[in-house]
Amino acid sequence: MTFRLVALLITRSMPEVIGSDEVTPQIWVQLQRASVDRHHEWRTPVLASVGLDGTVQARTVVLRRVDIEAQRLFFYTDRRSPKVLELKATPVASLVFWSRRLSWQIRARVSIRILEAGPVVDSAWASVVQSPSAADYLSSSPPGSVLPAPAVAPETPAVLDASQPLDLLGGPHQLAVVCADVLSIDWLELSRAGHRRALLTNEVPQWLVP
Ligand SMILES: Cc1cc2nc3c(=O)[nH]c(=O)nc-3n(C[C@H](O)[C@H](O)[C@H](O)COP(=O)(O)O)c2cc1C
Repeated sequence: MTFRLVALLITRSMPEVIGSDEVTPQIWVQLQRASVDRHHEWRTPVLASVGLDGTVQARTVVLRRVDIEAQRLFFYTDRRSPKVLELKATPVASLVFWSRRLSWQIRARVSIRILEAGPVVDSAWASVVQSPSAADYLSSSPPGSVLPAPAVAPETPAVLDASQPLDLLGGPHQLAVVCADVLSIDWLELSRAGHRRALLTNEVPQWLVP
């Protein structure tokens, strides 16, 4: 094994020790990596929103894209899912990410827009249409619909044939893009040397008791 490869493996497996000025840029670097690396622990955050009955609703989602300049995160969902109605009614939410490798938790307060048509949705659909998850967005029944009998797991994951017309697959897709503008980030670093926590906004970081 070459020296460079060993050095790369060591730096990948060890959390970076970073200075306070570097916290915000490094968070965005990690978010961007998570959107393209399915093994990154920040790939699947928990999205917490306000339910129509006023209670907290939380679920795991996949981070699909990050726009660092706009400080914006993108997720995909079924436009008929309950969370879409909830997020339209109360368009603010919280996203919680934890990485054991980094020893970092972030809690991002976000403002939400649901995109149901247009170029962003078209390009999102183009990116999933040939993956197994495309089937999730072609179901004729909305997510959460009651089934008459227990569901049976398919023997092989559904993969769509791109040459097959979509109307034969149950009609047009139901994919919507959840667009989350980050308003602030509560960053927590766990460390034996002492935990650190900061509230990160567009102003200077505000250091907090962990
Ligand atoms: C690892 C994982 C990733 C998921 N990713 C998504 C996702 O990207 N979008 C989505 O709508 N649901 C995703 N789900 C399913 C949601 O967690 C949730 O069960 C579903 O969307 C229904 O949520 P709702 O009733 O609040 O609308 C994921 C679940 C898991 C376990």
